Amino acid sequence: MARDLVRLITCGSVDDGKSTLIGRLLHDTGSVPADQLAAIRTVTGEPDFSRLFDGLAAEREQGITIDVAYRHFETAGRRFMLADTPGHPQYTRNMVTAASTADVAVVLVDARKGLLPQTRRHSYLVSLLGVRRVLLAVNKMDLVDWSQELFDEIAEDYRALAAELGLQAVVAVPLSGLTGANVVQRGDEAPWYAGPTLLEWLETVGLSEDDDGPFRMAVQWVNRPDAEFRGYAGRIAAGRVRPGDRVKVLPSGRAATVERIVTLDGDLAEAGADQSVTLTLAEHVDVSRGDVLASAVDAPEAADQFEIQVVWMSETPLLPGRAYVVRLGTASVTGQVTDIRHRVNVESMEHQAARTLELNDIGVCHLHLDAPLVFEPYERSRDLGGLILIDRQTNETVGAGLIRFALRRSANIQWQALDITRAERAGQKRQKPLVLWFTGLSGAGKSTIANLVDKRLYAEGRHTYMLDGDNVRHGLNRDLGFTDADRVENIRRVTEVARLMADAGLIVLVSAISPFAAERRIARERMEPGEFVEIFVDAPLDVVEGRDVKGLYAKARSGALTNFTGIDSPYERPENADIHIDAAALTPELACERIIEAIRDRL
Ligand code: ADX
Repeated sequence: MARDLVRLITCGSVDDGKSTLIGRLLHDTGSVPADQLAAIRTVTGEPDFSRLFDGLAAEREQGITIDVAYRHFETAGRRFMLADTPGHPQYTRNMVTAASTADVAVVLVDARKGLLPQTRRHSYLVSLLGVRRVLLAVNKMDLVDWSQELFDEIAEDYRALAAELGLQAVVAVPLSGLTGANVVQRGDEAPWYAGPTLLEWLETVGLSEDDDGPFRMAVQWVNRPDAEFRGYAGRIAAGRVRPGDRVKVLPSGRAATVERIVTLDGDLAEAGADQSVTLTLAEHVDVSRGDVLASAVDAPEAADQFEIQVVWMSETPLLPGRAYVVRLGTASVTGQVTDIRHRVNVESMEHQAARTLELNDIGVCHLHLDAPLVFEPYERSRDLGGLILIDRQTNETVGAGLIRFALRRSANIQWQALDITRAERAGQKRQKPLVLWFTGLSGAGKSTIANLVDKRLYAEGRHTYMLDGDNVRHGLNRDLGFTDADRVENIRRVTEVARLMADAGLIVLVSAISPFAAERRIARERMEPGEFVEIFVDAPLDVVEGRDVKGLYAKARSGALTNFTGIDSPYERPENADIHIDAAALTPELACERIIEAIRDRL
């Protein structure tokens, strides 16, 4: 079944004349209603197409487009869904969203300017997100007297770039959105040009058929209106399905037989890619949201470690070791980037070493998930190979990830079962494992108070150990400094050591600034329920700075010490600490009493 819907993305830099070109394309295909046309006529009576889609006031004010707008138009042979994406670099997010579903891309350049850094960046993103068919629209040819020489030069430059980026089917078209030449109708301004017009290309360009591959559908929800009916609803990502087909439910791997294909318009004898359906299975198998139904003969695998390409889309940088929500298809788990392999310099295509990824950076990373997910490489499947990273504190989408492959080491490392349990280890010490986590500004008194609590517990015969930020940084963490990325890694390691010690049955006291809520949250989640106690040693900055026991605040203020917490590096106050110590009001001894009292029933 040939597809007749073409998803098209347009990209260009600010001022390339994109609005005019799109307006022209829609007008000349007869897709603009008369009243809208009347509204954009200028004093001369000519329509100003650039104003056709200026629905967004901010766009006109700032001269930039600010969101993805989808516009529909059709010709005799095909229907088109055009994603108009912004030219401004800070809107990579919108471009990624649009490109991840696009079949073809129209990259716009101004004939007077040729290729710009943005052209390169957009083409790279388009290629990365799997769009292989690209048209280079060399716009504003009327402003360069339809110079063939100039056009050939730009087309040649772009061909070289496209080859470097792995784009196929690249065609360059000289055109003018303003006059309409070579957009829909051929113009006689460039008799030397024998290729297709923009629309001719759009109407004939080859499209890949999602129907070709094996069947895949991620389960969006389980439809159970009554005890009789149980259906699995989702959108078919690839392949075709018929009643009687054998499928596998993943990740469990259970096999089943498709019984019915239910839709609002009645049952179907067959369904294919892009259709939303509800499947029922002949057997009673366990299927839940996030599972994938796939052809039993060619089913994808599940894995929990991947190499991925990442496009970072947030002002807050990507920090290895921080936990993000990872959404793939309809499934969601938490995961951490363990390692940034490199950052790609889009200008030079060089691989550069990087500790973090900043807004709009593109890099290759290793991703570790808390549970395995069913996947395919992005190259094979955008649906099962494209994931998003979501900030757990703000719920904002911060990154897009494209799976290259699963890291096999995930399958090769198993959990070694030990005969002596953690309960037995703790029982031998006649105590319950506990992690007392002291957080607060440098100089707030964390270590002093923790030290007193430690002595009290020791005197009672408890088995304790103290992990102090400064001390750990002399050995295990001596390779780490005080950038955000290093602090995240510092706390990750301290968390893992504390966890091992709790497993050994100890009461662990951690004293570290631990400035980020996200990492304190991971620390809590890594421990057994009830075994983590967050103690916020709360002292105002002016108080700790006034004391300045180590002389570090003075250094930080003078600029001799950078990234200092509270001065030029943030401290995120705990919102719901288990124990809140007002360090400006309490002596360390009183604070210690408070803590012992508060944890008494957990000992
Ligand atoms: S954390 O932010 O990664 O949790 P940690 O508690 O391990 O920090 O280390 C903080 C200690 O390192 C402080 O008590 C202070 O003595 C010292 N230090 C040196 N440089 C800095 C800095 N830039 N910011 C904060 N503390 C620093």
